Amino acid sequence: MTEFIRPQPGIMDIALYEGGAAHVAGRSDAVKLSSNENPFGPSDKAKEAFLRAVHKLHRYPPTDHAALRQAIADVHGLDPARIICGVGSDEIIGLLCNAYAGRGDEVVFTEHGFLMYRIYSQAAGARPVQVRERERTTDVDAILAACGPKTKLVFIANPNNPTGTMIGLPEIERLAAALPRQAILVLDGAYADYVEGYDGGAALATARGNVFMTRTFSKIYGLGGLRIGWGYGPKAIVDVLNRVRGPFNLSHAQLETAEAAIRDQDFVIRCREENARLRAWLAEALAEKGVPSDTSTANFILARFADEAEANACDEFLQSQGLIVRRVAGYGLPNCLRITVGDEASCRRVVHAVGQFKAQR
Ligand SMILES: Cc1ncc(COP(=O)(O)O)c(C=O)c1O
Repeated sequence: MTEFIRPQPGIMDIALYEGGAAHVAGRSDAVKLSSNENPFGPSDKAKEAFLRAVHKLHRYPPTDHAALRQAIADVHGLDPARIICGVGSDEIIGLLCNAYAGRGDEVVFTEHGFLMYRIYSQAAGARPVQVRERERTTDVDAILAACGPKTKLVFIANPNNPTGTMIGLPEIERLAAALPRQAILVLDGAYADYVEGYDGGAALATARGNVFMTRTFSKIYGLGGLRIGWGYGPKAIVDVLNRVRGPFNLSHAQLETAEAAIRDQDFVIRCREENARLRAWLAEALAEKGVPSDTSTANFILARFADEAEANACDEFLQSQGLIVRRVAGYGLPNCLRITVGDEASCRRVVHAVGQFKAQR
């Protein structure tokens, strides 16, 4: 029977997304530095809100997310009517692909861009178009050269994962202004909170009809396990996405925890400062051991090795020391390892282990 049951064309071409490893067999002191999580977890206020939500387990949550949208709007100075909330920013990326791209359309993203852009565009039946980067950095001219009448969406993560690099607002503005009329520029700001003074592209998404921004509670807010993200942009786009989103996509616990988290900006500032301090220390200490990286603007660094064999050997050695980092061959970077900036003790362990590894060679 099942031989007659088939998914839509293209679905079986989708490569399964693999999350960062979380365990090392036989080690109870393993540190997970493979998923760009906040080593300090969420703010206490967020945890308290989560616990309070237990009393509403029998109630359906609100469908309009009004309180969370208002909190986001207050903190970022945005119009709440132009905000949409989702199950991680992943859901918002998926909604954009489903609503705007289909068979015969193209979705453009960069060479070392986030894997979900490809997966969601394939799931929607559209053709993914991958554009080269310049020295692991988004290249606006290369993107523009790849755009044409079929382009419906252009995704840029700024800062980008897994490279950690970012481009400036004038470059983004130049891209937005030169895109074909039917294309939306999506600025993925999953790591924007780590960049002091950067609005993630919010002002551009306010001013332009073709720019949309996505954000997440999974990184600096330390809520990756709860799955909450949001998008902001032209009212017309938000209206379209709301038509295809599940009405009860976010639970009371998600909505109320996220609201408490975003209202605790003191916590965010502390995390941003600590990340910047430890990131600079980690990058410099690894460079001294012979492992360079590009200047990162996010909560991870992309450590570069001589070749794939050395990167894999270092990964194995780090695992033997209870340190779990991320191989990024799937992102076209086989000679690199992505290392999340952990707490101070974890950063020191990484540098010590990489030093031991390099000394053996
Ligand atoms: C660039 C980028 N965008 C989006 C996401 C999705 O995050 P979430 O669905 O947890 O909001 C991630 C997660 O790693 C990411 O790295």
